[in-house]
Amino acid sequence: MPRPNIILTGFMGTGKTTVGKILARHLGYGFVDTDERIQARSGKTIPEIFQEEGEAAFRCLEAAVARELAAGEGMVVATGGRMMLDPENAETLGRSGRVFCLQAAPEEILARVAGDAGAVRPLLEGGDPLARILALLKERAAGYARFPQVRTSGRTPEEVAGRILEACQADPAS
Ligand code: S3P
Repeated sequence: MPRPNIILTGFMGTGKTTVGKILARHLGYGFVDTDERIQARSGKTIPEIFQEEGEAAFRCLEAAVARELAAGEGMVVATGGRMMLDPENAETLGRSGRVFCLQAAPEEILARVAGDAGAVRPLLEGGDPLARILALLKERAAGYARFPQVRTSGRTPEEVAGRILEACQADPAS
């Protein structure tokens, strides 16, 4: 029986990794976080890649990981916040399963990324992070809107995972 991947997209701090791990456990799927894979492969942290090689180099690494994961099945993939906004990544990885976009209020995103000391987001560094979040959300709104939306504000990660599982069970073929 085929085991289509579940791909989580959405802005930084919307809970893709936390929810993805819960989903993987429920489904007996593997779990991959694309940022972690990139870091393991390059031996550098995300901020180091941005600083030493530039954002364009990071996006190339992301595209390579998208192609590689698209060939697999039975995985929950938590993608970096912009990965699925690239049409080629969306096409390649999207074909391997179902994509869900997690969303949260900007203030909540700020609180979550501020509390996530282990993962510095270069795109939110310097200046006013809330203003940066609002600007990026606006810039990316149309891109995220292409995917089925899952609200995370006011829900626990378990509840969010439950919604996604329900959606998959209700419409298993797509
Ligand atoms: C990014 C999101 C980050 C990481 C990088 C760029 C983005 O991943 O890939 O800092 O452009 O939205 P998370 O969404 O897991 O924070």
